[in-house]
Amino acid sequence: MTSSQLWTRATADRYDAEEAENSSAAALEPALAFLAELAGDGRALEFAIGTGRVGVPLRERGVPVVGIELSEPMAAVLRRKVDEETLPVTIGDMATTVVPGEFTLVYLVYNTISNLLTQDEQVECFRNAARHLVPGGRFVIELGVPPLRFLPPGQVAVPFDVSERHLGFDTFDLVEQTLVSHHLTRDGDHSHYRRAASRHRYAWPAELDLMARIAGLERERRVADWDGAPFAEDSGKHISVWRKPA
Ligand SMILES: C[S@@+](CC[C@H](N)C(=O)[O-])C[C@H]1O[C@@H](n2cnc3c(N)ncnc32)[C@H](O)[C@@H]1O
Repeated sequence: MTSSQLWTRATADRYDAEEAENSSAAALEPALAFLAELAGDGRALEFAIGTGRVGVPLRERGVPVVGIELSEPMAAVLRRKVDEETLPVTIGDMATTVVPGEFTLVYLVYNTISNLLTQDEQVECFRNAARHLVPGGRFVIELGVPPLRFLPPGQVAVPFDVSERHLGFDTFDLVEQTLVSHHLTRDGDHSHYRRAASRHRYAWPAELDLMARIAGLERERRVADWDGAPFAEDSGKHISVWRKPA
């Protein structure tokens, strides 16, 4: 049983509009090029494919894509864009669900491994990725670096977005290694803010490398963004690639 939180119908119905900025062809191009190159002539499996923000355009590029997704409402939004034969999706937990066939690429983007709230589940997710890969295949994760350097003693929250329509900040449980992302989003009526919060388990890049080793994968590459900028001490996120030995 996963400890991930359920993504509801209301969330699914709003998702594409709220993520419009990160869903445009221009915004997605570097990620699609990165993933398509790693998939090569093989098939790609997206863990937590959601509404298909990445999976649908990757499929349109010619890469055969299969998805695993926990939330039926999120998958239903994807299904309005593409049929089951073109992009099959299995409803299930990415830490444990097995789909048929082998893949040259398994990928898990947009901070989504943090939806698995325990270390055990995150390790299982790596194991599940390895299970689906051909020898020589790659597992790719996009994940934020925990922003703990912005949390001096006595401060309880770190803001990550302060804009006209949205106020976002994280609060931390440093013992459990979890954080809660709080969102206050302005709806059409400008006097009204909608409040939402989601819990995540944060993990350092080095912890993910160890999870990969437990799953029998070797680190191949770590960069700061989809354009391949070097990962540095002030990088806010990383794209990491692990390879299943041939
Ligand atoms: C931030 S969205 C990302 C969706 C998509 N990958 C994207 O880039 O737009 C997170 C997604 O992860 C899904 N999810 C959360 N926990 C999951 C799990 N244990 N197994 C599969 N999907 C999960 C949610 O239902 C949601 O669709």
